[in-house]
Amino acid sequence: MEGCSLGTAIRTRVSSREFSGASIELGDLSTLLHYSNGFRTRNVDGESVTHRNAPSSGNLGSVEIFPVALRVSGLRPGIYHYDTAGHFLSVVQRGEFATWLREYVLYQREFSKAAVAFVLVGSVGRVTAKYGDRGYRLVLLDVGHVSENLQLTATAAGLRVCATAGFIDGELNQALGIDGLASASFLVLLVGT
Ligand SMILES: Cc1cc2nc3c(=O)[nH]c(=O)nc-3n(C[C@H](O)[C@H](O)[C@H](O)COP(=O)(O)O)c2cc1C
Repeated sequence: MEGCSLGTAIRTRVSSREFSGASIELGDLSTLLHYSNGFRTRNVDGESVTHRNAPSSGNLGSVEIFPVALRVSGLRPGIYHYDTAGHFLSVVQRGEFATWLREYVLYQREFSKAAVAFVLVGSVGRVTAKYGDRGYRLVLLDVGHVSENLQLTATAAGLRVCATAGFIDGELNQALGIDGLASASFLVLLVGT
């Protein structure tokens, strides 16, 4: 990624809904995942402390990303889970999901020409276990931080991006293999050219 200044990324970010239907590179996907919610270690008083690249309440890292790869060079289409600590993808389901996204999940037709749909999943149970009911609020805030990281990274990479909260929860959660309660889809970000 060539990138640009943070100020330029903030000023030029815009919600784009007109995707070309072209692919993005696997390296772009890797960059998007790493900068939005990747892992790093920091030395604090001689001890190694792990953080994600987005702040999260209690450093619990409540947000998980499930990329739905529609058109990524070098990656078979399908639903994946991003392992933040190891920076790798594991397969949830392989297959072509563009039509399914358009007809059963998102409905906004233009989104199915994106290259990747990033589903931001909140690990609600992980946060409420520590903070009780206030955890629901905290997960929403955590999702917002990862979303903006991803939107700015996409912009800096010269890619188009748009968020949507308009999706069919049950359909999406089922495909991801999550229960919609302890772990639930909160936001989808479409990225492409
Ligand atoms: C939580 C959230 C949900 C959104 N849902 C949709 C949506 O369902 N469809 C859509 O086209 N845009 C959606 N958007 C994009 C907004 O419409 C867009 O951010 C807003 O119009 C401001 O435009 P800008 O992002 O270009 O500044 C959503 C944005 C956010 C933050």
